Amino acid sequence: MFGILRPLLFKFDPETAHNLTIAALRTGLLPRSPADDPILATSLAGLALPNPIGLAAGFDKDVMVPDAALRLGFGFVECGSVTPRPQDGNPRPRLFRLAQDKAVINRFGFNNLGMEHAIARLKARAGRPGIVGINLGANKDSDDRASDYVTGITAAAHLASYVTVNISSPNTPGLRALQDGAALADLVARVMAARGDTGVPLFVKVAPDQEDADYRVITRTLIDGGVDGLIVSNTTITRPPLASRHAHEAGGLSGAPLKPLAQAALERFAAEAGGQLPLIAVGGIASGADAYARIRAGASAVQLYSALVYEGPGLVRRIKADLAALLRRDGFASIAEAAAR
Ligand code: FNR
Repeated sequence: MFGILRPLLFKFDPETAHNLTIAALRTGLLPRSPADDPILATSLAGLALPNPIGLAAGFDKDVMVPDAALRLGFGFVECGSVTPRPQDGNPRPRLFRLAQDKAVINRFGFNNLGMEHAIARLKARAGRPGIVGINLGANKDSDDRASDYVTGITAAAHLASYVTVNISSPNTPGLRALQDGAALADLVARVMAARGDTGVPLFVKVAPDQEDADYRVITRTLIDGGVDGLIVSNTTITRPPLASRHAHEAGGLSGAPLKPLAQAALERFAAEAGGQLPLIAVGGIASGADAYARIRAGASAVQLYSALVYEGPGLVRRIKADLAALLRRDGFASIAEAAAR
């Protein structure tokens, strides 16, 4: 089906094609995917996942289609990024397909309808099954960005399955500075205080573009602060060799060219964490073998977005089947066993 739709969707500019996809998913006219192979069932920071393949943040910024995404077969869905106040983001065009590279560049800049809207959407699905997390951002014009995350956690803690503190979008000037030393320690103390005894798992999402010393500092700060998981990684601001004409657009690069960078960053964080911090791997995952390589490197779960643009929603089912076969081939009884270091 996607084979027929893809050329049609690719006739539209990418943002319009994305909006059409969301509108199609909103109709809810989707067959439910079959129950997952039990070997894929796993646990992430206490959350029971039917499978470890998640939808990454940015696809469903405004919590429009989490249940449709679950029906496509994802084991968990991360909505957002949501900022406390609605904002328009950067002027269009701000999303580019790099088809020859199986990549995407975006410089959306946290366009979203704001926290109040997201909370209403989460309330509307309260009580339904499925793990739906919310990824939190900061408003561009905020004087105290850490307080924006605190606002988000306070609002969403009782409605989301987990919250992600996204300090790695390259499209909000200065945001990535929150990953640095003292700023990160201060942020972690504040967001963990906001999480308090709500029990909602709290993840932090970082960039793949780290200096050598950063891996240890970030990992230690998150473990010492009691954070529940680390998502590695967001898009890259680097530009590996690319063939497409949009290669030099400003923004974050995702998809196939991000894969080696995200895998390497995951391996560095896994070495530092020594099993003390659950890891969620994302960046260029487009096959069961890609997902398996991240799990073998220590990830408890994975997420993807860009590969959906090129492969369509049937990809989720293929990744799950291939991942289950790889686990069995190597004699593992579970994801956790394959991820153990
Ligand atoms: C993203 N990503 C993203 N991440 C995030 O934490 N908040 C966000 O709002 C967005 N927005 C967003 C928009 C678009 C168009 C893309 C392609 C990506 C990053 C995304 O969640 C993921 O970390 C990277 O895209 C790497 O994974 P893939 O796409 O290579 O599988």
